[in-house]
Formats: sequence, C-alpha cells, structure tokens
Amino acid sequence: MRAGILATVGHTPLIPLERLHTPPRLRVYAKLEGFNPCGSIKDRTALNLIESAIAAGQIRPGTTVIESSSGNLGIALAQVCRFLGLPFICVVDPKITTQNLRLLMTYGAQVERVENPDPVTGEYLPARIQRVHALREAIPNSYWPDQYSNLNNPAAQRQTMQEIVEALGDPPDAVLCTTGSCGTLRGCAGYVRDSGCKTEIIAVDAVGSVIFGLPPGKRLIPGHGAAVRPALYSADLATRCVHVTDLECVRGCRRLLHSEALLAGGSSGALVTALERIRNELPSGTRCVLVLPDRGDRYLDTIFNDDWIEKTFGAAALAQIAALTASHETPCNA
Ligand SMILES: Cc1ncc(COP(=O)(O)O)c(C=O)c1O
Repeated sequence: MRAGILATVGHTPLIPLERLHTPPRLRVYAKLEGFNPCGSIKDRTALNLIESAIAAGQIRPGTTVIESSSGNLGIALAQVCRFLGLPFICVVDPKITTQNLRLLMTYGAQVERVENPDPVTGEYLPARIQRVHALREAIPNSYWPDQYSNLNNPAAQRQTMQEIVEALGDPPDAVLCTTGSCGTLRGCAGYVRDSGCKTEIIAVDAVGSVIFGLPPGKRLIPGHGAAVRPALYSADLATRCVHVTDLECVRGCRRLLHSEALLAGGSSGALVTALERIRNELPSGTRCVLVLPDRGDRYLDTIFNDDWIEKTFGAAALAQIAALTASHETPCNA
C-alpha cells in the first residue's frame, strides 16, 4: 500500500454509458481517469516514472526532477514530487493555461517557461526539450523522466487495462485510447498482447498530429496529439486509428455532458466522436471501453464556453452543437 495521497492513484471507476447512443447497439463503458487525485490518467504515469527511477537509483534524496509538460503530466509530477520532498522543475511554453500554471506553482513546482518555438519546426516541444537538456547540464543530481521514451510510462498503463478486464470480468472486444506520448496505447496494447486476449485496440489521434503519419497542423485542444512522433509509438500497437478535429472534440464533450452528465476533457470528446464514426463497423453487442483521460473542469473557459466556441469555430458551429445536444433526449429516471 502506498503512502498518503499516492494510495489514491489508479483503481478508477468503470461505468456503462447507456445514453450515448439510442438504441444502444453496442455496450459502451467509460474508464474514468479523472478520478485520479490530480484529475487525469497521468497520475499513474507520474507515480510510476518516479517510483521506478527511485528503485533504479536514478533518483536519490535531493535529486531535482526536470520534465517538459504544460498539462496533466506536469501537474501529476508536481504532486508526487511534493509528497516525496523532491524538487521539481517543469518546463512549459506560452500555450499553458493560467489554471495549469497556478496548479503547478501551488504544488510547489518551479516553472521554467520557454518563450519562443523551435526556429526550424515552429513547434514549442523541441524548444522545451532543449531547455530540459540545458537545465540538466546546469543542475548536478538532476533527473529527466522523459515520458516520450520511458517504458515506465506504458508500464503504468498496463494496470489501467488490467483494471478494465477485472471490472468487466473478462476482456472487452475493443478499447479506444487517445494518443499523445502513446503511453496509454502502448500500455493497453502490451497487456492485450501478453495476456493473449482478443481485444481490439483502437487509437484516437488529433487531426494535425503527426503520430500516425498525417501532416502537422494547428491543434487547439491540449492532451492528445503530438508535433513529433514519440519514441513509444510503434505501428503494431493499434489495429486502426481514427483522427478527430478540434471541433469534433468539442461536440463529443458536449454530447457526453448532455447525455450522460459526464464533464470530461477534450480528448474524451475525441473518443466519443471516434466511436460515433466507427460504431456501425463494429458487430452488434460489441463491448467497447473508452479510456477517458481527464475531467472537464479545466476546460470551462474553452470547450464548455459558448463564447469561446463561437469565437473559435464560428456561429454556425455553435448552432450545430446546440442542435446536436437538443436532439438527444435524456430519459428521465427520477
Ligand atoms: C487529456 C489527455 N488526453 C490524452 C493524453 C494522451 O495520453 P498518452 O500520453 O498516454 O498517449 C494525455 C496525455 O498527457 C492527456 O493529458
């Protein structure tokens, strides 16, 4: 049993989503990773990255942990490092939200902000990684977990898949995972491969992300998608990949909220849309699980804000979302 707050990482609920589609041709479940203590699936990753490095002697008392993240992993590492008394430097870029910045600082992280993107690619990620290297050189006894290549990232997510199988009693027919570092995808795929179960693993990525070989493009919704293909990616992890636009993420989130009263983050909306797109290709009665990476509370100024939607996507998009949610009547069980 882990100590204190760290004991609450993992063992998240799995719930049926019975109102998303009517009539319900498939049996759909959601793994609610927002129930982790910092609100996302990255709590599992952060904890395993740090615990494994301690076990391997890479982190000793006083080691400064340095990582590049503007979102969930950074916040999760800030909590774990705070609990274990380890100094933590989080390298962020100007796209970080005020709320995430404040959360990092509230947990006691030192924040290093890169101001300019990489001049060659125009992306912030290479610039952040460069800053990580510079900090590591300058700070003796420092450690970089590097979530994009560290196998302890997917190792943490094998547990997510194991919990799904245990909660259902046997393996589901399909699992839909979003992709950023590919930790979730690789962890779930690894569990399926090693246990010999027949579960189909379906990747869900952002339009504009290069992970599955599509051209790079502007992306607004944080979490899933990557500007650089992560080392943890390999072509055999998923049987198929569904690409989802920013606006489709928003629509998926709104549908989840409207039909299931479930307030989830942008990449969860991507999963809802992806399932919508492929559901008629899946045999009737298929049991599929959506691994919902985080809660929706940190998206109140964007995905759940009509003004932001109108400003970002236009009045027609907002009207379409309003019509879409209005057309899905929710049964009254009161
Ligand atoms: C909200 C959200 N969705 C999806 C992902 C992608 O998960 P992974 O890095 O395991 O591929 C992340 C990763 O940080 C995330 O924060």
